[in-house]
Amino acid sequence: MHVRVVENYTCLGEKAAEIVAAALRANPRLTLGLPTGGTPEGMYEALARRFQAGECDFSQLTAFNLDEYVGLESAHPQSYSFYMEKHFYSRVNVDRQKVFLPSWSGGDCVAFCRSYDALIASKGGIDLQILGIGINGHIGFNEPGPILHRDTHLIDLAPETLKANSRFFPPGAEVPRQAITMGMGTIMGAKEILLLASGSAKSRALAEALDGFIRTTLPASILQLHPSCTVLADKEAGVLLKGGFVP
Ligand code: GLP
Repeated sequence: MHVRVVENYTCLGEKAAEIVAAALRANPRLTLGLPTGGTPEGMYEALARRFQAGECDFSQLTAFNLDEYVGLESAHPQSYSFYMEKHFYSRVNVDRQKVFLPSWSGGDCVAFCRSYDALIASKGGIDLQILGIGINGHIGFNEPGPILHRDTHLIDLAPETLKANSRFFPPGAEVPRQAITMGMGTIMGAKEILLLASGSAKSRALAEALDGFIRTTLPASILQLHPSCTVLADKEAGVLLKGGFVP
């Protein structure tokens, strides 16, 4: 694992965008795995700026989102489809035919999940998977528990995830209790992984993930086994890491 701690949230977004832009320059037909949440917003902003400056071309990119809530339509402002449009896709030149989210709207859920993994496989797998981390150590929506799923699947969200994500919903609105998420095998199958972490609320989960035992009760700890995983944290998130601040 390569760990880099940067000064603040802005630097995190810039550095992450730099890594994505470099990967895209090396391979314009890149397949990205993409996260949502507050953490990657800065990265999407920096990528949009690079596009506006003529520095990035996303026209041949393929992208798969990690997860999506169950029960929210794509047009719902808190759906991850809406998030991706707002923060990234509407601001750059992606081909809408090449960007995918696991938006399940009923029917055979297992078949839907299988088809999402099959679609990823048909594109040659994910070249660069970008991840955030939950305060409970989840990645995507792979929640802590006695077992982890290999493939894309339907999951009941953990109470701490519901609480953390309620900040994105209007007061009183109910947070969806289920989601479809890539599984740990889907994520670990990526050729490269970039994990982003920001803020002191993530410091314990991040330290446990990087320096603690590998365990299903802290899903991000499995990343220790990935052959090419980079971790980018801001100072607040990285404060408990053994390596400390590395400018
Ligand atoms: C969400 C998403 C994750 C994300 C994490 C952290 O629930 N499913 O993919 O990485 O929780 O989100 P945030 O960056 O807002 O803290």
